[in-house]
Amino acid sequence: MPFNPFPIKNNQLYVGSHSVSNLAQQFGTPLFIMDEALMRKQMRLFKQCFKHSLVSTEVAYASKAFLNLAMCRLVDEEGLHLDVVSGGELYTAKQAKFPMEKILFHGNHKTREELQLALDYKVGLIVLDNPFEVETIQHLNPTHPVPVLLRVNPGIEAHTHDYIATSRLDSKFGMSIFSDETLDLIEHLNKNESFVFKGLHCHIGSQIFEGTSFIKEIQALLLYVKRILDEKGIVVEVLNLGGGFGVQYTNEDQVLDLEATLPQLLDTVYTEAISLNLQIPKIIIEPGRSIVANAGITVYTIGATKKTPSGKEYVFVDGSMADHIRTALYQAKYEAALVDRMDETADHPYSLAGRACESGDILIHDCLLPKVEINDILCVFSTGAYHYSMSSNYNRLLKPAVIFVNEEAIRIVNRRETYEDLLTQDSL
Ligand code: LLP
Repeated sequence: MPFNPFPIKNNQLYVGSHSVSNLAQQFGTPLFIMDEALMRKQMRLFKQCFKHSLVSTEVAYASKAFLNLAMCRLVDEEGLHLDVVSGGELYTAKQAKFPMEKILFHGNHKTREELQLALDYKVGLIVLDNPFEVETIQHLNPTHPVPVLLRVNPGIEAHTHDYIATSRLDSKFGMSIFSDETLDLIEHLNKNESFVFKGLHCHIGSQIFEGTSFIKEIQALLLYVKRILDEKGIVVEVLNLGGGFGVQYTNEDQVLDLEATLPQLLDTVYTEAISLNLQIPKIIIEPGRSIVANAGITVYTIGATKKTPSGKEYVFVDGSMADHIRTALYQAKYEAALVDRMDETADHPYSLAGRACESGDILIHDCLLPKVEINDILCVFSTGAYHYSMSSNYNRLLKPAVIFVNEEAIRIVNRRETYEDLLTQDSL
């Protein structure tokens, strides 16, 4: 049985009180279904577990994992802050009336226009990446001192896929803690009246399962905080540790026990800060994937099968790498099931292929299913993070709809694209 948090009743997969096949019939396929109750539960878990009587904390949702107007509302209702990395994400949050003082604006190269937008909106924190951004903000002549963090790179190697490791020494993100230029920039931010220097940000990568990677990050950052204090006399009030908490996609994946790990991180902050004789900074984390990944599934209709001369069997579905890029891009592994045949033995190995004109368009390489029938409804599990947000119109394929299901309630939060939508940016 594939790893998934959803109930099975009478051989059928359910989300909330709805059978997935009914939802597929009602809304068509391909379809992203997100369980709102599960997303809320996960946000509450983060808020409850990331607490310490002697350390002040904040949890921000990393919106790059999945964002739309409805998601902004959910995040606000659950009392989280919001991490955005582009003018587009920022604009979405603004349109959803997300409180701008609870926004953290990231990115390694924010444009002048994006920085201006962030100043106009008075976002809570801008996370600066490099001296060029500092200069750009000064040129923009902000009407108020801008609260900022500086992204630093402590060179921690987290064990994850190359493309999602972000803190190697030669990473494109942030300023190295081993460079004098970084200390000088912090001094400049602290002195210059355009800024209120609040502290440091760091993100060591994504899909991290070893709590020790985060512990190393905390230790390295606090040592650096001490150095900033000793050499420049500047107090770091805020430390943002980033996101990256690992998520289980398949039965074979490791599990990161958040309930145990999150309090451990805060205990480490407390004991290390005390032993270094530091004022204890406020600690922020920014989970993205771990809030939405398992709450989402993608539902497809099986349209055809094909057997090659060597015996390889393909199942063709009505989606593609345009809505499921992570297998091709990161060799990510997923599990699938036939939503009306959940109790049947899944012992038939298929290659689950999309309809994009590209041989790399495989959603799952070794996909175990019961022997499929044409028109079976299939779902791929744990697609809530970095699927819709990384979807494209490759081959001019249409983006699927996204629905939120909360027990009984269903709402369309992104409508299905139409051919007319494809032409809205075209002109002759
Ligand atoms: N904070 C910062 C500064 C980040 O760069 C990221 C992710 C996060 C938080 C959230 O990380 P999470 O908790 O979601 O792991 N497209 C890739 C993931 C790229 C992540 C980039 N940064 C994927 O599909 O695996």
